[in-house]
Amino acid sequence: MPLPPDTIIGIDLGTTNSCGAIAHGDGQVKLIPYKGGDYTIPSIYAIDDKGHELIGHEAKRQWQLNPRNTLYATKRLIGRAPKDDVVESVQKSVQYRVHAGTQNDVALDCHGRTFHVPEISAKILAKIRDVASDHLGFKVQRAVVTVPAYFTDRQRQAVKEAGTLIDLEVVRIINEPTAAALAYGIGKRLDERVLVYDLGGGTFDVSIIEIRERVFEVKATGGDIFLGGIDFDNAIIEHVLDDFRKKHGIDLSSDPVAMQRIKDLAERTKIDLSARGEAPFSIPFITMTPQGQPLNMDVKFDRKLLEALTQHLVDRTLKIMGAVMVDAGITAKDIDEVMLVGGQTRMPIIQDRLTRFFGKPPSKGVHPDEAVAIGAALYGWSLQESSDLKIQLLDVIPMAIGIEQAGGTMHVVFPRNAAIPNAKTVAATSSVDGQKELVVRIFQGDHPETARNELLGEFTFSGVRPCRAGEVRLEIMFEVNIEGILTMSAKDLDTGRKMQTTVRVASA
Ligand SMILES: Nc1ncnc2c1ncn2[C@@H]1O[C@H](COP(=O)(O)OP(=O)(O)OP(=O)(O)O)[C@@H](O)[C@H]1O
Ligand SMILES: [Mg+2]
Repeated sequence: MPLPPDTIIGIDLGTTNSCGAIAHGDGQVKLIPYKGGDYTIPSIYAIDDKGHELIGHEAKRQWQLNPRNTLYATKRLIGRAPKDDVVESVQKSVQYRVHAGTQNDVALDCHGRTFHVPEISAKILAKIRDVASDHLGFKVQRAVVTVPAYFTDRQRQAVKEAGTLIDLEVVRIINEPTAAALAYGIGKRLDERVLVYDLGGGTFDVSIIEIRERVFEVKATGGDIFLGGIDFDNAIIEHVLDDFRKKHGIDLSSDPVAMQRIKDLAERTKIDLSARGEAPFSIPFITMTPQGQPLNMDVKFDRKLLEALTQHLVDRTLKIMGAVMVDAGITAKDIDEVMLVGGQTRMPIIQDRLTRFFGKPPSKGVHPDEAVAIGAALYGWSLQESSDLKIQLLDVIPMAIGIEQAGGTMHVVFPRNAAIPNAKTVAATSSVDGQKELVVRIFQGDHPETARNELLGEFTFSGVRPCRAGEVRLEIMFEVNIEGILTMSAKDLDTGRKMQTTVRVASA
């Protein structure tokens, strides 16, 4: 059956790999294949010496030789302020240059050009859209795009912006673990409580979801958008750099080509060690001695060593998972199925630890690399007019949203795990005589001090009636839509007048 051009595809925009899928008229889902038959493409963008753009596999193939102009793992930087410590730590682990952008955001340099992060996400989305369009025979214009459940409002907005840049209508943003649960649960007439443990390349999410046939209700979510396979690779990299320093007295960390070769092999060694007990870490001619003698890198690696080097990371995921279970008010025995999503969950120790924790092995019900895109495609299909699939998604916000009050403390408007969509009103008043404007600073995060949370923006309500301090009675309405995106409006309660709101991302 030919697909209507209003088709909505599903896109999993991952830190390391991205994937597209489409649901057919009868609700069957197909992954979109790339040249060579792969269903995922590396989320990598590069510009080569000749100034040609490379995206996906082509970009990855040359990244060892062109490390300065190969942008990867940029999802970790999307929607972030430049002063964020995350930005600093990303800069330490990548070979391309990361610096402050002009819009209180992060900018990336590549072959003499400067990009905002959403522009790079847009390149990857465009690649998937183009491959899908070629495959389907019409220009794809609409998509459901997934994001980590633990993304803030600002990060979600940035992903939407990436779609706008290439005229791709991002019809809906949904959370990655929720999408995986859709892939698992649609068409099965379930009545279960599942826990999704999603450890990908860059992010960790955990969601507890109750599935009742086609109703998917998220009870609680949590995560760390700075915890993923890349951190496991970095633990290996640190170890081999240290070993090399001890053996040869040479620090390779400032040599971008050597670092890229080490990075590549670190990931391959890690993956090998999921299937076998030992894997040598050998790179010939990695550098020269001051006397001009070539040096090789040779480190003995086995699974036990990898587990020791990364135990703190696995511990962190279990700690976060425990906190989410407390938030949901449940214990291990209340979980019917544990679903593993994300490539890093193939590490055997992760499966062992979860099996021990829950007293049963995780479900094999979904494919760890494909479930998110499949769920997004199913959801996309359900939003199409021609569809008879109706899905009810009840999701939550991952962190509190609130406003700053005197003394820099957070007045929580929506607590973490508040159901979305949601709306709340907050009373506000003028604090000085004759005040014409009211400025409200909005934050997202669970810390009682706003300075420790993420600044979402500064809203100025202009046209306040000038009167004495405390006399104006304003009602500010906060609405979080089904995508977890916030909008605001204000009303003067005495005149009924709606207040104009302007949003600007504060440059603080
Ligand atoms: N067999 C394996 N054993 C261990 N790790 C693996 C294995 N296969 C893949 N990985 C790791 O999984 C990660 C990629 O997972 P995935 O493709 O699910 O991430 P992503 O969707 O790109 O990232 P995210 O969801 O965090 O944005 C990489 O770090 C990769 O090294
Ligand atoms: Mg993923």
